[in-house]
Amino acid sequence: MNPRIANPLLRAPTRAMPRHVAVIGAGSIGPDIGYYLKSALPGLKLTLIDIAQPALDAALARLRGYAEKAVARGKMKPAEAEAVLRDLHGSTDYDALAGCDWVIEAATENLALKRRIFADVEARVAADAMITSNTSSLPAARIFAEMHRPQRATVTHFFAPAWRNPAVEVIDWPQADSELIDHLRLLFCATGKLPLVTADAPCFMLDRIFDNWCNEAAILLGRATAGEIDSVAGDYVHAGPFFVLNLAHGNPIIVETNTLQADEEGEHYRPATIFRSVERWVTVAPNRPLTVAADTAEAVRERLLGVLFSQSVDILDRDIGSAADLDIGCRVALGFKRGPLELMRELGETASARVLERFRRERPGMPGPARALGEYQRFERHVLVDDVDDVKVITLRRPEALNALHDEMTDEILAVIRRFEGDARVAGFVIVGYGTRAFCAGADIGRFPSMLGDARASEQYARDCSRLLVHLDAMDKPVVAALNGMALGGGFELAMRCHALVAVRDAWMQLPEITLGIVPGIGAMVVPYRRWPQAAAVFHDMLRRAERLRAARAHELGIVDELADDVPALVARAVARVHALAGRRPRIPDGPVAIPPFGEGVTTAANGMKLSAIAVGLIENAVREAAAAPTLEAALEAGYRAFGASACTAAAREGIGAFHERRSPDFGKTG
Ligand code: COA
Repeated sequence: MNPRIANPLLRAPTRAMPRHVAVIGAGSIGPDIGYYLKSALPGLKLTLIDIAQPALDAALARLRGYAEKAVARGKMKPAEAEAVLRDLHGSTDYDALAGCDWVIEAATENLALKRRIFADVEARVAADAMITSNTSSLPAARIFAEMHRPQRATVTHFFAPAWRNPAVEVIDWPQADSELIDHLRLLFCATGKLPLVTADAPCFMLDRIFDNWCNEAAILLGRATAGEIDSVAGDYVHAGPFFVLNLAHGNPIIVETNTLQADEEGEHYRPATIFRSVERWVTVAPNRPLTVAADTAEAVRERLLGVLFSQSVDILDRDIGSAADLDIGCRVALGFKRGPLELMRELGETASARVLERFRRERPGMPGPARALGEYQRFERHVLVDDVDDVKVITLRRPEALNALHDEMTDEILAVIRRFEGDARVAGFVIVGYGTRAFCAGADIGRFPSMLGDARASEQYARDCSRLLVHLDAMDKPVVAALNGMALGGGFELAMRCHALVAVRDAWMQLPEITLGIVPGIGAMVVPYRRWPQAAAVFHDMLRRAERLRAARAHELGIVDELADDVPALVARAVARVHALAGRRPRIPDGPVAIPPFGEGVTTAANGMKLSAIAVGLIENAVREAAAAPTLEAALEAGYRAFGASACTAAAREGIGAFHERRSPDFGKTG
């Protein structure tokens, strides 16, 4: 595959966003693809094409249902839903394709049918219109073989439910224009999707994992029941193979895709015959796992890991996809709790090698590693790194958690900085978030519960989390934060330690910790008052009331140095700023600073939520103590201590618990 810029939004767009898209096939996934597009680009004209009018009617009704549900759940305003449902058409006539700039084929997996469809499409759309297929298995070279202009065609493989599942494989096949692939990546990334570029192998990347994993589960039925196998798989997936096959009516799909792999690559891929005689599996719900006898569990676990590891090394050895995309794709698209390479790392090299050897003994023909297993682990999992004009652009990529920071991501950022800060060819760094929605939604709240109740451990946790930030304080090379969207909590604390901030116009910043019953412990109660004393009153409100700060206001206040219209322009500005700061990057003032009084006590947050008086008090005290501290280091320590104290309150337990239970916290009962 061509080496590409890792963050798709760093390249300036070469085409406008689509204005008229048609989706061919009003079955299960086609309308969902349409709904995703209309939600992301409400001004778009969308035409659904099918041979059957009832299918079209049902599809349009489904879209209306989605929009109504979104309004009922408060995810969409009525006016937004109206825009999504506007300019939505259904037709049984291919002439309705006239004027489309993108046609997505989502018809039955039948080669001859697809080729006929592409001939009909090509006869009706302009020469530069994009044509993509949602096939999950058939190689692009085969389905587009009879097209006049195959360079404008590729596979864009969505995952169910396509309106919500961010993953989409974009196939980089030899005849496709490189500009087409770059544009599709940009388009998907800018509309909230996670494009994963893969080579044109049968079943591409993620279905090679999923289909073979399901097939292996079926082959194992001689040793364990479907419920037992699902229960064992529950260690690392949200739902086991049989449960998912039932949900997706997936048995015929496995027969089809594994037959294709068997015909192309060998008998070891042949689908288990049982798929042809079973419609529904007798299994258990993911939250009700069975107790499985230890020896059975061990055999099932090893075999399922074996197929995952075998497919993973094969995908990497054949350059079908990248290691980071493989793991993130399995998590986001397939419902894995941890990706296969993460599972392999967790198990260790020796044990993984043993699993692979045993698997290949039991399943002759299945691929094995071409390199030492440790070599497959050499990649950045949560950040992308690009070179732009002698600057390393580090993109935070955890779209499943709005790029929230956890220890591994922090360490990866730090490792990239350490690797290049001594390199004379590198002028500095830019940190940006993946996509257009979030720079970073803060520290990963999922990791908080374990330390609640232990002041010492929580204080040390805050100190440890600051390892990247104190490194930024001491660096000579400039680091610029490029806020491509919301910067919350720890995400804003990271940005405020960068040496300059640039932001897209609709970005915003917030310190929501008070609404979780805790305090922002890694700099937010310290750094802004020393760095931007003119905005002290604004920070009082951000800390105590979780007031949002819009990028334009932050620019007026001198917090954000420059504004940009979109992400490519943002990164260009950030890179220019790195060069401008060379040799004269600002330092956070070290000495004590005067702060305005807090004034009246606050009881409610900006969103009306009743606050914890104890947490508000901890913030006020820490801000005062930090402002009076003789050095920045001493001031930061005051922040860590306040975080430790806040982690031991009933308010923290309530606030964090409420976030996980998706409800509003009740600080009235905690104080
Ligand atoms: N840590 C861990 N996960 C986070 C996160 C964080 N800081 N912020 C968002 N996420 C996750 C959500 O849990 C959700 O995951 P799920 O799909 O598995 O449930 C996903 O990111 C998308 O967020 P969601 O809440 O569904 O989006 P939304 O548009 O409804 O709301 C926010 C967006 C930012 C308002 C909301 O996610 C939020 O309040 N996040 C917490 C922000 C925060 O308090 N940060 C400071 C932490 S100290």
